[in-house]
Amino acid sequence: MPSTHRPAGHEPRGGPAHQVRWPEGVEAVVVAQFGVQAPTRADAGPAVARVVGLTALPHGPSKVDRGWHVDAAGVVNEVFACYWTDPAEHTAWWQSAPVREWWAGLDETGPVGHWVEVLTSPLARHETMYSAPVPVGPAGLSLPMEPTDLHDYPFAALDRIPDSGHDAFDGEPVPFETDLPDGASTLGRRVAVTRVPHNLCVIRTAQNWGAAPEEQREVYRDKVEPGFRAGFEYMRDNPVDSGCLSARLLADVDATTGADLPGSCVIAWWAGIADMLRWAHDHPTHHRILGDFWTALVEPYNVDLRVLLWHEVHVANADAVRMAYVNCHPGTGALARTAAAVAAG
Ligand code: HEM
Repeated sequence: MPSTHRPAGHEPRGGPAHQVRWPEGVEAVVVAQFGVQAPTRADAGPAVARVVGLTALPHGPSKVDRGWHVDAAGVVNEVFACYWTDPAEHTAWWQSAPVREWWAGLDETGPVGHWVEVLTSPLARHETMYSAPVPVGPAGLSLPMEPTDLHDYPFAALDRIPDSGHDAFDGEPVPFETDLPDGASTLGRRVAVTRVPHNLCVIRTAQNWGAAPEEQREVYRDKVEPGFRAGFEYMRDNPVDSGCLSARLLADVDATTGADLPGSCVIAWWAGIADMLRWAHDHPTHHRILGDFWTALVEPYNVDLRVLLWHEVHVANADAVRMAYVNCHPGTGALARTAAAVAAG
């Protein structure tokens, strides 16, 4: 791993963090998000059940996480984050008859929309970080974990990404290009993203309080979560200033039943990793998150802290991202960053 940014003699506070150790032979991970959009969770139900069924088919994802949120347009999105460690398996699944029939046959009208945002991420352009070796997120693919001292200093995330040693990951200007005709509505039709800027960055950053005693859950909820929400709202609502192109704050739910689980995550696309790191280093909202986290949780509970933090970061090759939207409102994902949407303000 490159350790270009690590200060000489740096010892991380609280000891090592942990990262996923991918098995020999794995070169890329596919992270595919499938979204169902509807006025209410009940309205989304049948479409969600169809997705649940498809993920269980042969060649399906080895790991499925699910969350939901109400987006800035007031619409419910049920989101499946699906992982494959073999891109060929993902392709076999996506091209299998039931999946093709589902996608080709989706209703382009009515109250329900669907979207996919799929990334095939070479491990050399990727990093994970966990505050403790707990098998959730990509580590939940039953992968071993290993300690790392490359954390607790600025740009540590870059040092955990192998290719950062020789690639500056310079982002390209947005907007995205799509096949949406000029002036047309995104509702009532399929829209494919036809050009994705190179070096787009995506983070899934999560917290899980399933193992935390009630007192720590309350502290997280009352003292840390409000700042987290403020940071999320800033990045969601200020794409030009922040460089954050799309952000969702998802409440974790059981992948099959949809029942509440004790965790949440933000999944956010950025124009480039430099934009994301600038926000993390310079913006008052991440400063507030870090400050609240240290004073409310790390200092009082120290080694007894059971609120788990983890994230995964990917820097995407432009040709390795597939995004498409069926009957989705214009604020959805990449649709909101198309030339027409940007021009419309
Ligand atoms: C709102 C979404 C969030 C995003 C996009 C985000 C992004 C980041 C990024 C990119 C870094 C790495 C900085 C670097 O390596 O230079 C970072 C570090 C960190 N973040 Fe956040 N963060 C978010 C929320 C949170 C929350 C809610 C917490 C705590 C509850 C948190 C705690 C931390 C900590 C402790 C570090 C330092 C990790 C280390 O290297 O030891 N972040 N964050």
